[in-house]
Order: sequence, then structure tokens, then C-alpha cells
Amino acid sequence: MSSNKHSPEWSPSSWQAKVAEQQPLYPDQEKVQDVLGRLGRLPPLVTSWEVEKLKADIAQAQRGEAFLLQGGDCAENFEDCQSDLIAVKLKILLQMSVVLLHGLKMPIIRVGRMAGQYAKPRSADTETRDGVTLPSYRGDLVNRMGFTPEDRTPDPELMIKGYSLSALTLNFVRALVDGGFADLHHPEYWDLDFLGHSPQKAEYQRIVSSISDSLDFLETISRRPIHQSSHATFFASHEGLHLPYEQAQTRYLEHRKRWYNLSTHMPWIGMRTATMDGAHVELFRGIANPIGVKVGPGMTAEWLHDLISVLNPDNEPGRLVLIHRFGASRIKDQLPEMIRAVQATGSPVLWVCDPMHGNTETVASGVKTRRFENILSELQSAFAIHQDAGSHLGGVHFELTGENVTECTGGARGLADGDLARAYKSQVDPRLNYEQALEMAMLIAGCRQVLGA
Ligand code: PEP
Ligand code: CO
Repeated sequence: MSSNKHSPEWSPSSWQAKVAEQQPLYPDQEKVQDVLGRLGRLPPLVTSWEVEKLKADIAQAQRGEAFLLQGGDCAENFEDCQSDLIAVKLKILLQMSVVLLHGLKMPIIRVGRMAGQYAKPRSADTETRDGVTLPSYRGDLVNRMGFTPEDRTPDPELMIKGYSLSALTLNFVRALVDGGFADLHHPEYWDLDFLGHSPQKAEYQRIVSSISDSLDFLETISRRPIHQSSHATFFASHEGLHLPYEQAQTRYLEHRKRWYNLSTHMPWIGMRTATMDGAHVELFRGIANPIGVKVGPGMTAEWLHDLISVLNPDNEPGRLVLIHRFGASRIKDQLPEMIRAVQATGSPVLWVCDPMHGNTETVASGVKTRRFENILSELQSAFAIHQDAGSHLGGVHFELTGENVTECTGGARGLADGDLARAYKSQVDPRLNYEQALEMAMLIAGCRQVLGA
């Protein structure tokens, strides 16, 4: 029944014989080859032992013994590679992980949509304004946002720039995770004023004091600050969209006898590029990293079955992360069939819910937003549907920022459509802000307790 047309021979360039969706058209191929050669000689951004550590952690989550938190911007911008912006993004992810750790009582695997989330899929190859048609903006790795031919012509040098800024970001994140940021684990240092605006204020305060108490307790018994005893790790992920860039970072490691993509710990295949005989599935089937695959409306049981058999033919634990993103109104109809399809394979996967991408809507002013209540509702449905089906939800995936933006509505402060214009910064999808993200983590912790899961 499988429509597996993948031949056993794989090489880092075998994808080039397949249809590659969403790729930029560079006018100067010689320049592209020069850049790719340079990229391939630069040192890797991550190491294979970190990648293998993440795979082992994901295997643990597949067994229900850990939980994955993945989050960050829809798209990073080169301009936002700044110390304070990186620090606040890391801060919200670490704080959410403390809340989840406390509520779920299991280790939290922290994965940023960071340090390389620079390429975006687009619904059209070109954009027309006032009769002028130019290539679509495909992310800072490819071209620039401005609407001039110079800005929009794909520029291969941007790959080197994206690679370098990813390295700077990772370097700073590693330093913060290893050394500083100790106080971040303590709610005394969090910005919690917003809790006062919520009807659930008392419940949130209870969670916060209980986190403080348990941290104090842990520090007392281990006689050292929590960040030193917990071996905090942080992993990077991005959509593996730009195939020449991903290929240039794909290396054979003699001591492991396997190929690794060393531009990130966990690349994922987006909704628009997961076709079975497409180039993305071909490139990623040959690497040893854990791989994410977005699963949304349009995916069929047979397609998912085939993806699993091609991307994880040996049923390796920790290898596959399925990130479903159906939307609050469709998840009940569509997720159960996907769960059954996976169960029929007997192959281990980690199910993660992305409650963002199926819940995007456009308000009267033309701005894209997402409602906090729909995001939460999709998550609650996801936990319940997995539990009813004898499966389990092992992680969550958010678009978020540590800044005080107004892109999603709802949450404790009750942001309304009219507030969106005040601090809307995303050039792409709307993100949860600091307060909404932290509140979401508290609700997930609470909702798992309610479900008794
Ligand atoms: C994304 O994660 O930003 C994205 C484009 O998602 P999807 O592929 O699920 O639409
Ligand atoms: Co997005």
C-alpha cells in the first residue's frame, strides 16, 4: 500500500532530482555555488552529541516521561539579533518551562524556534503592488522586506549572514543558559502584575507560590541554586525550508557513520513541503537529527503512514516529532484519524500540538491575529483527544515573544481587536506576548491536572 518511491540511495544532493517547493530563484547561480562552498567549510553551529542528546530526550517524551516546549518567533529578523531581544525570548521560554515542570512533574525539553528561523514559505511566488510585480519576501535568509527590485531579488550572501547571526544567537543563548540567568527560575523575579487582571488570579497566585516553595525546597536539599542542579539545556530548531542552505550544513561524521544537519538540533518540515515525493522529505530522510513534521488539514492517514515509513524506516526512538496544527474547530474531526494511522504503524512518534497555525484570522482592519481562547481550546482538545485514543500529547509548539507586543487577542488583560495596532511588530504571524505566553503555560499545567493526566 505504501507509495514509497524513495530509492535506497541517498546523498545530501539527492533531493535535487525531486520537485523542491518554496525555493528562491537566484539570478546568479555562480554566486550561489560560491556561497554554498563557503558555508560548507564554516564550523558547524551545533554538535552531533547535542543532537543525539535531544533525540534521547525526545525518546523519553515519547514514553511519557518528559514534555517538549518549542517556541519562538514565526520568523526571526536579522535586525532583531540583539542581546536584549534574545534574552527576553529565552527568559519567557525558561519561565514557561519552570511552570510546566511544576505542573506536569516531568522534565521539560526546551527547544527554541531560534538561531536560524530565517526562511518562510509563501502562498505566492510574487507580490503585486500598484501594477508592479516582484518576488515575494521569503525571509531574511533569502531577500529583504522592502518593495524594490534590489530588496526582493534573492541574494545568496544573506545565507552567510543568516548563518553568522544564528551562530551569534546560539553563542549568547548557551552563555546565558550555562552561567547567568539563575534568578529566572524564581517567580520572585518574574513580571506577574498581569495576573491581577484575571478572574483566575487566586489560582495563578497559588501556582506561583507553590513553584517558589518547591524551588526553595530543592535548593535546600541540593545545597545549590536550581539552575546548577538541573543541567539546563536548550536546543535550537527551525523550519528546514531552504534546501541548498540545509544541504551545505549536512555533514558525514565518520565516528558515527551517519549524516547530520549541523545548522540546528531539530529541523522541521512545514505543511507546504511535506509531499511524499518532494525534495524536503528526500533531504531529511537521510540525516540522523530528530525531525519535526507539521500535520494539518489535508493530511491523510495513508500520507502520514508513508511519511513515517520513509522518515523513520527503522522505528528509531526520538527521531520523529509530529506537530499537529488543525485549529480549534477542526481538531476534533481530524486528529483521531491521524492518531489511529500512527498507532497502526507501531512506530514511536512524539505528538506535539501547535495551536497557533490553525487559528489565524484576519480582523476588520485587515490585521492577522489569533485569539487566546482558541489557542487554549485547541490545546485542551488535544490533551483530551490523545488521552481518549490511548495516545498522549507530549509537547506544545508556540509562536511567542518575550516582548510586550499586541498581536494575539485575549488573555488576562483582555486584549481586544482595537488594541492590536498599539504594538503589532510581527511581519508574519501573530505571537503570544510575554504575559499571554506565561499564562498559557499556567493553564497547560492546570489543564493537565484537571485531566488527571
Ligand atoms: C510556521 O511554523 O511558521 C509555519 C509556516 O507553519 P505551517 O507549516 O504549519 O503552516
Ligand atoms: Co508562523
